[in-house]
Amino acid sequence: MIKYEEKSGEFHLSNKYISYIIKISEGGELYHIYFGKRIREREDFSHLLKICDRPLAIYSEENEIGHSLQYTQREYPFYGGGDFRYPAMEIAYENGSRISCFKYSNHKIYQGKKKLEGLPSSYALSESDAHSLEICLEDSLSNTLLTLSYSIYEEMPLICKSVRLLHRGEGDIRIEKVFSSCLDLPDSDYELLHLSGAWSRERHIKKRSLEQGIQGIYSMRGASSAEHNPFIALLRKGASEEYGEVLGFSLVYSGNHLEQVEVDTDNAARVLIGIHPDTFSWNLKKGESFQSPEAIIVYSDSGLNAMSRSFHKFFNTRLVNGYWKDRERPILINNWEATEMDFDEKKILDIAIKAKEAGIELFVLDDGWFGERNNDKSGLGDWYVKNFKKLPEGVSGLSKKIRKLGMKFGLWFEPEMVNKNSDLYRKHPDWVIAAPDRNMSQGRNQYVLDFSNPLVVEYIYRAMKKVISEAGISYIKWDMNRYITECYSAAHQAKDQGKIFHKYILGVYGLYEKLKTDFPEVLFESCSSGGARSDPGMLYYAPQSWISDDTDAIERLKIQYGTSIVYPISSMGAHISAVPNQQNGRMTPMKTRANVAFFGAFGYELDLNELTKEGMEEVKEQVRFVKKHRKLLQYGDFYRLQNPFEGNIAAWMSVSEDKQEAIVGYYRILGEVNKAYKRLKLQGLDEKKLYMVNGDEKQVYYGDELMYIGMLIEHTWERGADLDFSSELYYLESVIL
Ligand code: GLA
Repeated sequence: MIKYEEKSGEFHLSNKYISYIIKISEGGELYHIYFGKRIREREDFSHLLKICDRPLAIYSEENEIGHSLQYTQREYPFYGGGDFRYPAMEIAYENGSRISCFKYSNHKIYQGKKKLEGLPSSYALSESDAHSLEICLEDSLSNTLLTLSYSIYEEMPLICKSVRLLHRGEGDIRIEKVFSSCLDLPDSDYELLHLSGAWSRERHIKKRSLEQGIQGIYSMRGASSAEHNPFIALLRKGASEEYGEVLGFSLVYSGNHLEQVEVDTDNAARVLIGIHPDTFSWNLKKGESFQSPEAIIVYSDSGLNAMSRSFHKFFNTRLVNGYWKDRERPILINNWEATEMDFDEKKILDIAIKAKEAGIELFVLDDGWFGERNNDKSGLGDWYVKNFKKLPEGVSGLSKKIRKLGMKFGLWFEPEMVNKNSDLYRKHPDWVIAAPDRNMSQGRNQYVLDFSNPLVVEYIYRAMKKVISEAGISYIKWDMNRYITECYSAAHQAKDQGKIFHKYILGVYGLYEKLKTDFPEVLFESCSSGGARSDPGMLYYAPQSWISDDTDAIERLKIQYGTSIVYPISSMGAHISAVPNQQNGRMTPMKTRANVAFFGAFGYELDLNELTKEGMEEVKEQVRFVKKHRKLLQYGDFYRLQNPFEGNIAAWMSVSEDKQEAIVGYYRILGEVNKAYKRLKLQGLDEKKLYMVNGDEKQVYYGDELMYIGMLIEHTWERGADLDFSSELYYLESVIL
């Protein structure tokens, strides 16, 4: 999959889907030649290089013409020299200079893929699954090595990239910028798509045309954020869900990030993706190195849907790891919306008993079980039971009773946080992130523990480990309910303060790593006031994410649709909650709440005792349905069919790998009077197979009919019967008649 042509100095990374071509110039510079749909092998692709001889162009050498860095597609542009665009890397040297000059030194091609040190990263299933290339560049003056790493998988239309810097010279250097990937594209005829929002409206789809200048999204909040997910896509003009070229860029990282597209006045586009430089600087002493997070770049020639499926497949099979990889997710019930922090053992057991009756598999006790936690002003940091009025026999006692019912037991933690009113803060006020002599901002009455300090991480690790082992816990919801402000660590020297945001997230990853090693079968669900840290970095440790606190089924259409652009259905926590909805007061039918939540890691967020007898029967039926079909729902090939951001209808479907069965979800937001006749074009089926719809022998159609003509959805209309927020689910099974 990786070829090096000695004569032309070119690397061609390719599989049956894509080509990625890099060239070493005569002067030792790395040029980027191409990334996109696979092109045939050639010994020399020099004819594809962009050569521009322009008035006033700047050249590296005297008498040089043609290859001004200003106009060249560069592979990994460092600051210094004649390229005036934003660099991927900038280093400050001890003499105050920021000029670097990295030249090709050597390279290595090997089978398989290495793990990134201390960071979440994708992996290869075998030596032949992925091949990797490391190109080593050297700045001889400072004696610093830059290694660019690439991996290509045999069966995936994508490239994984990361970089590492090793300083071997005397004196310190300071990295001011180090992006994980740069991609110089020859033109800018694209639309930029990103997933942006806020609390309770996470990952709404935004689109705009690229323009000359800089456009991008970012987080400087200490978490990947609800505001901007670390992902962008470039869509060729006119590309849609099904058609056209799309490039998707995703960063396997949970901290501050920047995804930026610069279009120069030559209309070329430079895409940078990596750690946000404005909240980062990293000094290296002789012998020290720095590893960037991993960037994943997916190519699709058949629209956004295909790009998403590549991300889903890749994340499910090469990023999620360990016990929960490929496993169907347990149906859970969480008490948060039912009780918030106002509960006692009896209340919890009453919900659990009813849940067991419905066939639910896991009970999750949310916030409020620890310390003096009766509201959000106290208790965070004290991961032990103090309030025995609530839980007379502690968490272990409750867990025992729940497990005796025949359910698993799960628990909420917010490991990174502390309230001032806690034993932990009283004992270690210096363990929070706070700048000396400056105000310390609060968010939800809480402060952020200094996870850049290994002592703090170790303390929390021990506290959590004790609860997990004593209480027999099978699942952890790991929350993070405020962003980081006044970023400063008392545990580090002045010169290292630029490292704190990154070290913090490394501390979080380190704690995950330790807990996952100790408790390999515990299922982690990441959460951050809903989905403020639903990113691929988290996905590596926590195969599920609570993607939003907004549980209203209609709002969820957009949130789940947007989240599915990158993230697999198996990873999206999706629960049925009570009506009127806690967040927006909307009344939606139970059927629609279920039809939306089925496409996710399914669960409940209500007190089943408040349901009518019929309501409870519905719940039992839903649980039976999910148990029967969850492999298909959670791991099937997912196709978005109609976009709720663009109209009154949302629709999507999951198809089994063998195309034997499929489930379609169809949702009408507002009822329409005398609505038009409608067929919904399905996707991903086998043209030649006959499918029976909802077990009805009168509804049997060929795959090609369902895909190219469409499944009949609306053909009659009855006065007064067309309600708002209605939905239908269609189960298709291949039959032989
Ligand atoms: C956050 C989470 C909720 C719930 C509360 C508890 O808001 O997103 O699901 O766990 O915290 O305080």
